[in-house]
Amino acid sequence: MSFARSALLWVSENRQLRQTLPRYKFIRRAVSRFMPGEELVDAMFAAQQLQAGNINTIVTRLGENVSTAAETQEVTEHYLNALPQIQQKNLDAYISVKPTQLGLDFNEKLCLQNLTAIVERAQALKNWIWIDMEQSGYVDRTLALYKNIRRQYPHVGLCVQAYLYRTPKDLEALLPYSPAIRLVKGAYMEPPNVAYPKKADVNASFLALAKMLLANIKKNDVTLGVATHDKILIKQIQQAAAEMGLAKTAYEFQLLYGIQSDEQLRLAKEGYRMRTLISYGSFWFPWYVRRLAERPANVWFVVKNMFQ
Ligand code: FDA
Repeated sequence: MSFARSALLWVSENRQLRQTLPRYKFIRRAVSRFMPGEELVDAMFAAQQLQAGNINTIVTRLGENVSTAAETQEVTEHYLNALPQIQQKNLDAYISVKPTQLGLDFNEKLCLQNLTAIVERAQALKNWIWIDMEQSGYVDRTLALYKNIRRQYPHVGLCVQAYLYRTPKDLEALLPYSPAIRLVKGAYMEPPNVAYPKKADVNASFLALAKMLLANIKKNDVTLGVATHDKILIKQIQQAAAEMGLAKTAYEFQLLYGIQSDEQLRLAKEGYRMRTLISYGSFWFPWYVRRLAERPANVWFVVKNMFQ
């Protein structure tokens, strides 16, 4: 892992910097590149525009590591109200949630209860809920949460991270659940005994896992979201899927708002299912710094904004 990436990931997890840095105007200006606004209406407006170009969406309200039951209640209510608004606007927009937004840090039962309420409302409205994967210390609890909910509700998906050594085994154990899986490289700072430190190994793991999931789309009724901006991997996965005889619509690409927008349009135009994840909310700092860490050259964009 490069020094710049490690330093940025350290900043993203530093409590004091999480509180002070977002107050600077130039940082607030720079974040708008990755986020259409802080409110749900901003995300829905962007979703409407993307939908006109055949790109569906996932919306997520930024926030993580909340520490009181009242805060989790507020987040849950927010999503329960967001679901009918999405339906009223005829948007094909799923919702993605972070388990630590719903109480995973301090009360697993409460987290399950909150998530169940959201998934139940989504299911009633024929929508889907996706569960993000956070730092490696949360993986066991998040897998348990997913399995628990998936037993009752089909419209729920889970993110898994290719950089973790454990992920092939975790996926094997998930296959009997006919899971919906979003495959990502992984965004957090992890020690080398837990995750591949080298990018080449992460990429190789991503490709192997994607192939395994593609092969299980028919066999185990797997739903697959390939979530990467890596054009080489995207090509390799398209090729592998075609060789397996899978249609372009048998799986989906999921990319982030504001990143590789041309590639997103191209995928949609070529007949692939394309879904853009749009973030909104006021607690954007750690999430934003993780985006900088993915491409430390983005820091220049922040610096440029400092002088505007
Ligand atoms: P990589 O980082 O190798 O990037 C490939 C290319 O894409 C770069 O060379 C650059 O051109 C471009 N690019 C990538 N990131 C960029 C950026 N921030 N700014 C500008 N250009 C950029 N992670 C996680 O741990 N848990 C989760 O729940 C999720 N959820 C999630 C959902 C979706 C829809 C996506 C797309 C990603 C996530 N992630 C995630 C983040 C993921 O783990 C990973 O950190 C990022 O997707 C960046 O990795 P890439 O696969 O894009 O490859």
